Amino acid sequence: MAASIWWRRLEAAGRLWFGRCPRRSGGTSSWAETAPVLDGREEPDLTEKTIAKTFSALQAERHEQAERTILISCPSNISEKKFYKYLSSYGTISKYFFYETFGVYAVVEFSDKESIGTLKRISSIPSLQHECAVPFKSRFFNLRNNHPRELSAARPSVPYHKHAVIPLNELLRKLSGAESIDEQLYTVCKEYQITEENTRLRFLVCSLVKDIAAAYFPECSIKPFGSSVNNFGKIGCDLDMFLDLDSISGRNNTKTGGAFSMEYQTKRVSSERVATQSTLSVIGECIDQFAPGCTGIQKILNARCPLVRFSHQPSGLQCDLTANNRIAMRSTELLYIYSNIDPRVRALVFGVRCWARAQGITSNIPGSWITNFSLTMMVLFLLQKRNPPIIPTLDQLRDLAEVEDKYVIESHDCTFVSNNKIKPSQNTETLEELLQEFFEFYGNFAFNQMSINIRKGKEQHKPEASPLYIQNPFEQALNVSKNVNQTQLERFVTAARESAWILQQEGLKQRMSDTKPWGLAALLLPTMQSSGGKSKKKRQPASERIKTLLDSLKTNKSTPGYLNRTNGGRRHICTIAW
Ligand code: GTP
Ligand code: MG
Repeated sequence: MAASIWWRRLEAAGRLWFGRCPRRSGGTSSWAETAPVLDGREEPDLTEKTIAKTFSALQAERHEQAERTILISCPSNISEKKFYKYLSSYGTISKYFFYETFGVYAVVEFSDKESIGTLKRISSIPSLQHECAVPFKSRFFNLRNNHPRELSAARPSVPYHKHAVIPLNELLRKLSGAESIDEQLYTVCKEYQITEENTRLRFLVCSLVKDIAAAYFPECSIKPFGSSVNNFGKIGCDLDMFLDLDSISGRNNTKTGGAFSMEYQTKRVSSERVATQSTLSVIGECIDQFAPGCTGIQKILNARCPLVRFSHQPSGLQCDLTANNRIAMRSTELLYIYSNIDPRVRALVFGVRCWARAQGITSNIPGSWITNFSLTMMVLFLLQKRNPPIIPTLDQLRDLAEVEDKYVIESHDCTFVSNNKIKPSQNTETLEELLQEFFEFYGNFAFNQMSINIRKGKEQHKPEASPLYIQNPFEQALNVSKNVNQTQLERFVTAARESAWILQQEGLKQRMSDTKPWGLAALLLPTMQSSGGKSKKKRQPASERIKTLLDSLKTNKSTPGYLNRTNGGRRHICTIAW
């Protein structure tokens, strides 16, 4: 379950609070002036292209913030003023916020890491009546209430603003009130994207896990990857983590040129995979035994990419810890770069992911479903194929790269430009057009013969018979959607055709009233879902229904497999056998 986050904004810019905030006695500055700020209220304009920081700069900044941050389980009736006063006595707080999962938690970022050392020194291991505490001193604390009566008198407790995944019916209501399909797509993006607070929490969880791994590998780092940081994450998505041991190898240490050099004596194993498995196994064990709040540890070490899966209860995050997974890290950066090229990229990816979830095409459970990562690749491929293209191909990004962008991992070329040198596209298509194109393009794609390839931006003949073949952009001999079976692919194509058809219906393309679902909202309606066999009444396949419709209308001649655009500029889908 996703954490529902409430946050407090305490600086002058957060006038909402400033007016009510009591001033510190005896000080020259008000509490509000010195207290933390979170920028959740300053909503960026999602329709604008913004100059984004490079991925590595952003990661480094977040990582450093997380190292100065602690997590505290608080009494539910905590007085914010007293909380702040108490913690400030250990050091300057630069930011904090509260959230609620199965209790009240506070995330507190100090200006200086040393403050955490001070706090640790005065904190004690709890003495329990019927159990015994494992004395591991983490950065996850419990704030004990020494004067319960005083605190309960301090009600109302921390005022808050909830940040949870918006329920589908509320989303549908918002979408139905939008002015255009473009606005609907930006609304989905805004409502579903990971918040600032949630991002901080994700980096903090990585940092807490790093404290465990650092017992064995002091110089290691734990980095989030995947949708937590690629700009396509939905609040509540899993937290993919990568244990980076690269920096500890010392292979880049400058050679002294002397008569000798020193190496560590090490255990030797048969392959890097075996080394990864044993490292993850030990760290998984430590997380299980020592890390407070981490439960349900599963070691999935025989997977293609060995991992340790667990739930971090205080944050509500489902975590996957991998090691030696630098290519996935690079894919994450690539997606981050694509997301920043044009605001339509994120909006379309969010819209398509949301649509696919509502249709039961994607699932939280691993299996033969299409994954969000594959869907994102499909959207990117479509955007590369527009005329003019909205985003460049991976080969074009590689050609723009400079020396410092060169990156080869296990002989795979992972080079691409890492900054904002990519020129904006001249393409002016609306999101409505692009969404329609997505459904039509993939509703008619020759999946039986062709593969999707974002490196070239062109479909190519499939090298093998997987129903859906999306070439891995870096390990080019691999298919990122190898898990997808024919049934799931057919469900995707059927839903795409059906959605293309629904979107074409005049009444559903335009807002008729504030309440009636139209446009994207019409595609998310539970009645349209074909998931999980919930609906007992079997619908006629969309392609059949479209065929019937087209036959009955006796529209213009149509060429199988292509779109007929001759009807006054309006598009119809022709049926194809695939
Ligand atoms: P959600 O978790 O569903 O929100 O999306 P995600 O992008 O995080 O996907 P997932 O958790 O399944 O995978 C995490 C990351 O691993 C992805 O973003 C990719 O960078 C990478 N990844 C996932 N599947 C594959 C695959 O089949 N091949 C490759 N090369 N990378 C993958
Ligand atoms: Mg993920």
